[in-house]
Amino acid sequence: MEKIAIIGSGLIGRAWAISFARAGYEISLYDEVAGAAERAIAFARDMAAPLEAEGLLEGQSADALAARIKPAGSLEAALEGAIHVQENTPEDVAVKQRVFAEMDAVAAPETVLASSTSAILPSQFTGHLKGRARCLVMHPINPPYLVPAVEIVPAPWTDPAATEKARQLAIASGQAPIMMKREIDGFVMNRLQGALLEEAFRLVADGYASVEDVDVGIREGLALRWSFMGPFETIDLNAPGGVKDYCERYQQLYSRLFGSMQHRVDWTGEVLQTVEKERRAKLAAADLPERHQWRDRRLMALAVHKRKAAKEIGT
Ligand SMILES: NC(=O)c1ccc[n+]([C@@H]2O[C@H](COP(=O)([O-])OP(=O)(O)OC[C@H]3O[C@@H](n4cnc5c(N)ncnc54)[C@H](O)[C@@H]3O)[C@@H](O)[C@H]2O)c1
Repeated sequence: MEKIAIIGSGLIGRAWAISFARAGYEISLYDEVAGAAERAIAFARDMAAPLEAEGLLEGQSADALAARIKPAGSLEAALEGAIHVQENTPEDVAVKQRVFAEMDAVAAPETVLASSTSAILPSQFTGHLKGRARCLVMHPINPPYLVPAVEIVPAPWTDPAATEKARQLAIASGQAPIMMKREIDGFVMNRLQGALLEEAFRLVADGYASVEDVDVGIREGLALRWSFMGPFETIDLNAPGGVKDYCERYQQLYSRLFGSMQHRVDWTGEVLQTVEKERRAKLAAADLPERHQWRDRRLMALAVHKRKAAKEIGT
């Protein structure tokens, strides 16, 4: 059984533990806060039960999965014999620089060192390391055991052999790797999400639509296709002759829009009052935790559906 080390056992570290353990890896979990790794393992055990019930554990029992996740007493002990290290410490460049230096000093030379960072470029915390060629970013969407996409981002000095190892591990763990050719702020997914959010705020700020109607446009419209096709495949199927035909037919229409999309919106400005008022009218702040659970259950149901549909209808 190959071993994966997980450093930092908060929201993302514990979620990665479930994903990798489900794929059959032995997990060594280290957190600098005493008792945190044990709490993360208890979380993984609790979460494994509904995953097992939904058939999302590849036929394994929740107990078998939880038994593969063990706490480590030190970073060095966690990394001992690990083929891959997934770092999940707080989103702070100084912390990442320090933790990566510690990991690089003790990890075997062939071990890949990956960070879950959402928004720090890999070149910002790996350049000073002797083993910088085996460092990269492997950025998941929370929680990776339900949302497969993961961005694999190289620094300019990352060895392609390391990104290839990360890609193979992601696939073996049921993730869908996005192989970035080079680093850029926001990687791929936050850039796409940012573009959509900026337009959503602009439509509300400029008084064209309500917050709820923007959500309907995605929830009951675009996202139905996007939950199994990307924007490029969507347009490839939206004109009889495919993507080329689509661009010839519709580029004019989109070109007309872009002029009115150029001004920035301050998300924390006046528009936030409107968004906050409309959201809180629909969902009281006190009900947010319950709604988080609802979201996770819907995600689980969607994961089950997507697997079934992919098997029965094809991908
Ligand atoms: N929360 C998300 O939705 C999300 C999604 C994708 C990626 N990420 C990224 O994952 C990383 C972790 O985020 P999170 O939400 O899990 O944070 P978190 O605060 O829940 O967890 C961080 C954990 O790291 C531990 N820690 C701090 N310093 C440490 C050290 N030196 N050694 C070992 N453990 C240490 C803390 O005790 C804590 O348990 C961040 O880089 C974040 O950007 C978060």
